Amino acid sequence: MTSTTLVERIERLSNNGTGLLAADESNPTASKRMAEFGVESTTESRRRYRELLISTPGLSQWVSGVILYDETVRQADSDGTPLCRLAVKNGLVPGVKVDRGTRVMGDRPREFLTEGIDALGQRLVEYRDLGAEFTKWRAVFQVDAERPTPEAIKANAHALGKYAAIVQEHEMVPIVEPEVLMEGNHSLAHAEEVTSSVLEAVFQELTDQRVALDGILLKPNMIVPGKQHTPQASISEVAEATVRTLLRTVPAAVPGIGFLSGGQDDQTATAHLNEINRHGPFPWNVTFSFARALTGAALKAWSGKDANRASGQAALAHRARLNAIASQGRYSP
Ligand code: 13P
Repeated sequence: MTSTTLVERIERLSNNGTGLLAADESNPTASKRMAEFGVESTTESRRRYRELLISTPGLSQWVSGVILYDETVRQADSDGTPLCRLAVKNGLVPGVKVDRGTRVMGDRPREFLTEGIDALGQRLVEYRDLGAEFTKWRAVFQVDAERPTPEAIKANAHALGKYAAIVQEHEMVPIVEPEVLMEGNHSLAHAEEVTSSVLEAVFQELTDQRVALDGILLKPNMIVPGKQHTPQASISEVAEATVRTLLRTVPAAVPGIGFLSGGQDDQTATAHLNEINRHGPFPWNVTFSFARALTGAALKAWSGKDANRASGQAALAHRARLNAIASQGRYSP
C-alpha cells in the first residue's frame, strides 16, 4: 500500500502543466558547465548559481520541484536561509540526487554501474531532516554495436529497484532515471531498441523488489538517434518512437514521466516534449525534468556576475514557461 504521505508528495510533483528543474549536477559536471561560460567553479559560485535558480520569481507556475545536489542541500542563501527552505518559500518541492556516481564495470570498457546503496537509509534520514521530499538515482547506458550488454542493463536495473524500494520505505518519492545516452552514431531504431530493453528490465526489477509503481516518477531519455548519426530524425519521428516505446514499457500505474534533455538544444527539447504530448492523453503525466535545456541559457546570461542575476532568472523563467506549455502540447515555436 502506498502511504498517504507518499501519495501527497507524488501529487505535488506530478502536477499537470508543471515540470521539474534538475539543478543536481555533481561538482565535476557543474565545473564543466560553468567553464563553458568562463565561470570559475567554487563552493561559493555554485551556491550563488543555485540560489539564483531557486529564487527565480514566479518559477512555481511552471516548475513543481527542484532536484539538488548533496553539496547544495547543505547550503544557505546570502541571507542565511537554507536553500531547501528557500525552495519551499518559492513554491518548489526540494529533492536530492542520492546516487554516488558511476564506476566502470570490471573489465567492460564504457559500461558503468551506478553506486550509492551503502548507507542509503542513513543518508535519507539526514536528507529528510534537511527538508528533501524526493530523490533521484541515475543509471547510464552507452550505445554502440556491443553496448549496453544484458549484464550492464541487469545490474543497473537491479540497483534502481533497490534504491527505489529503500526510498519508499522512508516515505520519499524515488525518481528512477535510466539514461540511454545520445553520444554515438546509432540510429533512431537502435535507440528505441536499447531504451525498450532498459525500461523492460527496470520495471521487471521494480516489480520484483515490490516497489509501489504509483509511488515513483520515471525520468527517461527521449528516443533520439546518436548525435553523430546521419540522418538525424524529425521532431515527429522522435515523438512517435518515444510514445511507442513508453506505451509498450511503462505501466499505467506510474503517475508521472519527466524527461531528461540529454544534450538536446533548448528549443529542440521543447519541441519534442510538445509533439510527444500532442499524442496524448496518456495514463501518466508527461513533462520535463531538464537540466541543460532549462538552465543552459540562464547560466550563459548570468556568467557568474551579480549584475546579470535578473537576466539569468529571466532566461530560466522563459524556458520553464515554454516547457510547461509544451507539457500540455500547446507550444508553437
Ligand atoms: P539534462 O537535462 O541536462 O540531460 O540533465 C538531466 C539530468 O538530471 C541528468 O541526470
